[in-house]
Amino acid sequence: MNFTPGANDFSEAVESDRAHVWHHLSQHKRYETTDPMVMIEGKGLRLWDAQGREFLDAVSGGVWTVNVGYGRTSIADAVRDQLVKLNFFANSAGNIPGALFAQKLIEKMPGMSRVYFSNSGSEANEKAYKIIRQIAHNKYGGKKHKILYRERDYHGTTITALSTTSQNQRRDQYGPFTPGFVEVPHCLEYRSQFGPCEDYGVRAAKAIEDVILREGPDTVGGIVLEPVTAGGGVITPPEGYWETVQEICRKYDILLHIDEVVCGMGRTGKWFGYQHYGVKPDIVTMAKGVASGYAAISCTVTTEAVFDEFKSDPSDPMSYFRDISTFGGCAAGPAAALENLRIIEDENLLENTTQMGDYLMGRLEELKQKHDIIGDVRGKGLFCGAELVSDRETKEPAPEHIVQAVTADCMAQGVIIGATNRSFDSFNNTLCLSPALICTRNDIDAIVNAVDGALERATAS
Ligand SMILES: Cc1ncc(COP(=O)(O)O)c(C=O)c1O
Repeated sequence: MNFTPGANDFSEAVESDRAHVWHHLSQHKRYETTDPMVMIEGKGLRLWDAQGREFLDAVSGGVWTVNVGYGRTSIADAVRDQLVKLNFFANSAGNIPGALFAQKLIEKMPGMSRVYFSNSGSEANEKAYKIIRQIAHNKYGGKKHKILYRERDYHGTTITALSTTSQNQRRDQYGPFTPGFVEVPHCLEYRSQFGPCEDYGVRAAKAIEDVILREGPDTVGGIVLEPVTAGGGVITPPEGYWETVQEICRKYDILLHIDEVVCGMGRTGKWFGYQHYGVKPDIVTMAKGVASGYAAISCTVTTEAVFDEFKSDPSDPMSYFRDISTFGGCAAGPAAALENLRIIEDENLLENTTQMGDYLMGRLEELKQKHDIIGDVRGKGLFCGAELVSDRETKEPAPEHIVQAVTADCMAQGVIIGATNRSFDSFNNTLCLSPALICTRNDIDAIVNAVDGALERATAS
């Protein structure tokens, strides 16, 4: 560790940040009276900021990204070695780490075959929408161009990705949106839209079919779904949901696009979230954990059948995928991703994620017994949430200021946890816990103990 609390003076950088950096999802007025947080160094699950404070990071870089933890010199070395050899060439040509990573990735995704590189989750999703749209034009005269997305899911920040995002606080004031995207109902059983029902999963999936029939099956070409909804409230799919979704997609010839931007690369205890449910997607997108944030990389992965649609007629200049992403040609991304994948494999991090995820869920269940404010706990692997309510009977969501008081209290204790935020008017009420896949029981105990104390204080009055 190069960082010695107290011995380093970062005040100039902090002032420059205050003066010139526009932070994501942040209201800046408060930085007129308080310092913006500036992170300096990380190791494992630990982080240090410019004031020398040490934190235990329970959200993998704030947004489910640093899956293998901070300070991985082997990833830094792999990136450096690649950069001095070749940093970039447009991805109309290949590069060595890109080819090797694509092969390794496809080995983890039976049934899939092609990898398209770009830089962010939003961009990977945009590529998927373009693929679905182009197939609609080439095969169905443009008619089957509609793409379904689900209430409460998030698919990114660009205008079209936002057009498929059902979170009003992320969307409002950024319209008008891209036409041709249609919402389907959520699948959160805790807040069933159909009253109590035995087969909620099947019922929620059938609600998608209702939308398809309303719109006309010959107009719907694709559906995008998160395997486990992330920022929309850690929504795990109810039993029977995915099987029925798959049946519906097959019945109406609809391409199934699964957004694994958060769940991909081990977060849920399997390489990909959809692999828990026996589902066979046509397109899978991924970003955050692909290189654990050591370099920017995202992937849009398709089946060979989807890929074939773009090479069948070489005489037609409009038939192939006419898309480019400049920085999809950066070799640092796949170099980092390759080493990241090796670490997950060699350190058995999928197994650790399953075991530690079960432990974390058990500890959250204990908290639920103790604190009435917890209405529901949900999760898969190291991707867990606790929904806070004012009243367990009515399930009235806890007010956002209470939720924020809990996260702030944890931060004051040196533990960084997350919560759904700037997403909904009334459902910014789910605490999010997603430590790196290397975490231990001691880490989880420290995280849960911090949440326990924070809940105690937030509900004391
Ligand atoms: C499920 C999901 N898809 C897509 C995105 C967008 O990814 P990015 O911020 O890299 O564009 C996010 C970001 O949080 C996400 O949670």
